[in-house]
Amino acid sequence: MRLEGRIAIVTGAASGIGAAIAASFATEGAQVLAADIAPRAAENPAARIYPCQCDVTDADAVNALVADALARFGRLDIMVNNVGAAVHGWLKDASNADWDRAIAISLSSTFYGVRAALGPMLRQRSGSIINISSGAGFGGAPGMASYGAAKAAVHNLTQSAAVENARSGVRINCIAPGAIESPPIVAWAETLPGGLDAYVDSLLPGRFGKPEEIAAAALFLASDEASFVNGAVIPVDGAASARMAAIAVPTWDS
Ligand SMILES: NC(=O)c1ccc[n+]([C@@H]2O[C@H](COP(=O)([O-])OP(=O)(O)OC[C@H]3O[C@@H](n4cnc5c(N)ncnc54)[C@H](O)[C@@H]3O)[C@@H](O)[C@H]2O)c1
Repeated sequence: MRLEGRIAIVTGAASGIGAAIAASFATEGAQVLAADIAPRAAENPAARIYPCQCDVTDADAVNALVADALARFGRLDIMVNNVGAAVHGWLKDASNADWDRAIAISLSSTFYGVRAALGPMLRQRSGSIINISSGAGFGGAPGMASYGAAKAAVHNLTQSAAVENARSGVRINCIAPGAIESPPIVAWAETLPGGLDAYVDSLLPGRFGKPEEIAAAALFLASDEASFVNGAVIPVDGAASARMAAIAVPTWDS
């Protein structure tokens, strides 16, 4: 097993991408603290998933989450800062509260998680921190300015943390998912003109990614196979971020 004996925290682990990451880590031998603002019993491979409550927009709560892992298991090997949420709306109409919400849920939560995990990991001189950003962090998107700004900042936070700690044995990386089939994006797509089918058809790969496809990348970054991968921002998006937008995408038959 690729994570035999490792201790992991995954935030936002009650749904979507976080739930898939928690399940994959547990299947590969890790003990997983599955933190969520609304924790729920989920698929629990080998009974190695421990649901726990934490609001990751609260720095003290995130510190307490890491302290909980140390108290239960004595160490922390993997920290996945997965919580984030799109805040939709045109920039010209955005309120201060919209902006503050986007920064709190997607950026400050990640900062709190990175900082809290670094303490024990630096003492151990080992660890893997994985931040979940978004393809929205690579470029502008209408109606997603605050979300995109927060996620772009997650990219730099990842790089800065890795550079600052490059000789420490702790690696800090980021996964930038494309459109992944989880409850919020499906609910949002259903509100668009043309609905869900038109949205999926508009995606460059012609389909949603699956939460398990993000979990596979997270498993790699968490494992020793990624021992020389540090400060990386890895798109997992079916080529969406590789596209040169000025050239129209043809319609394929297949
Ligand atoms: N689904 C996509 O298409 C997509 C694309 C790019 C990036 N992402 C990113 O992936 C991450 C996970 O998204 P998802 O689609 O799986 O979402 P999701 O809504 O399915 O899961 C998010 C989980 O986070 C929890 N959560 C929300 N606020 C919290 C808080 N303050 N403290 C603790 N837990 C909280 C929710 O209860 C939920 O269980 C997010 O950072 C999101 O921005 C998703």
